[in-house]
Amino acid sequence: MEHAPIFTDWTDETTRGFGREVLHLRHSLAQSDLFGDDALARLIEKAPRHLYHVCTMSRTGHDARAWRDGDIHGLSGRDVLDAVKRGHLWVHVQKLPEIDPAYGELLDRIFAEIEGRVPGLETFKRQITFLISSPKARVYYHCDVPGQSLWQLRGTKRVYVYPNTPPFLQPETMERIILGEQQEDVHYEPWFDEHATIIDLKPGEMLTWPLNAPHRIENHDVVNLSLTTEHWTREIRNSYAVHYANRLLRRNLGVASLGRDARGVSLYGKMGLAALHKYGRPKTKGGVRSYTVDFRVDPQAALGYRDIPAYQIAK
Ligand SMILES: [Fe+2]
Repeated sequence: MEHAPIFTDWTDETTRGFGREVLHLRHSLAQSDLFGDDALARLIEKAPRHLYHVCTMSRTGHDARAWRDGDIHGLSGRDVLDAVKRGHLWVHVQKLPEIDPAYGELLDRIFAEIEGRVPGLETFKRQITFLISSPKARVYYHCDVPGQSLWQLRGTKRVYVYPNTPPFLQPETMERIILGEQQEDVHYEPWFDEHATIIDLKPGEMLTWPLNAPHRIENHDVVNLSLTTEHWTREIRNSYAVHYANRLLRRNLGVASLGRDARGVSLYGKMGLAALHKYGRPKTKGGVRSYTVDFRVDPQAALGYRDIPAYQIAK
């Protein structure tokens, strides 16, 4: 089947800047049936527990500890959407292609188009997720490990993107995140904002930014529907391996000064070290995190949820 192009204002400058600069582009996905309320409700109902997060957060200020995990067990997808529209919630459904292959086809189309426009670019381990979040919901300052893009479908959010260099992001922080010693939240100071690229992202617009660039998000006073896509390239994998090996060297040998050059002879040594450590570890430890769940979504409640006795989940 013939599809309209996904990117509608891509230029040669976009090609040159992809993965290196903050790019603010237009796209054609906002009207897709794949992201109407019926489709979203179905995805929420079909998503297994390990593929979604339901969260709430402080309504003011910047306090990553105020981020809480919740439960939607037994609710219909429509109930969850209603609660998000009226409450103070953030719902993230991950790995959409595992829930419905139609989203995998869309993901392939997105990256076929990007690779067709950026000579030499080869992406792998690609993913697509959706985020539906309440008016005024926010996501605190953090950085992501793979290449990352944010696609706006409904509502408007203010996105702050910061340089991926100190003091906005310390190399040791990225290393700890990659080894799972720290979650993605990163130390933030309000004065960082003077150095941020600040964009009010509207339906039909998307943003992509340099690898690991810290960012934070504030929804305008309107419900927001967004997609995230992530991808890996050889360059991203090499950078990951260098961070990984540097953390091991720093931790185990107390080496203070380490290169971060993702090229040349030392790269291959570091990739080998990272692979040995990673694949030599027992499987049960890899990538499993524990979360405290202490609220339940409730479309009747003022903020769209009510507190429940806390319990732990691991995923
Ligand atoms: Fe992010």
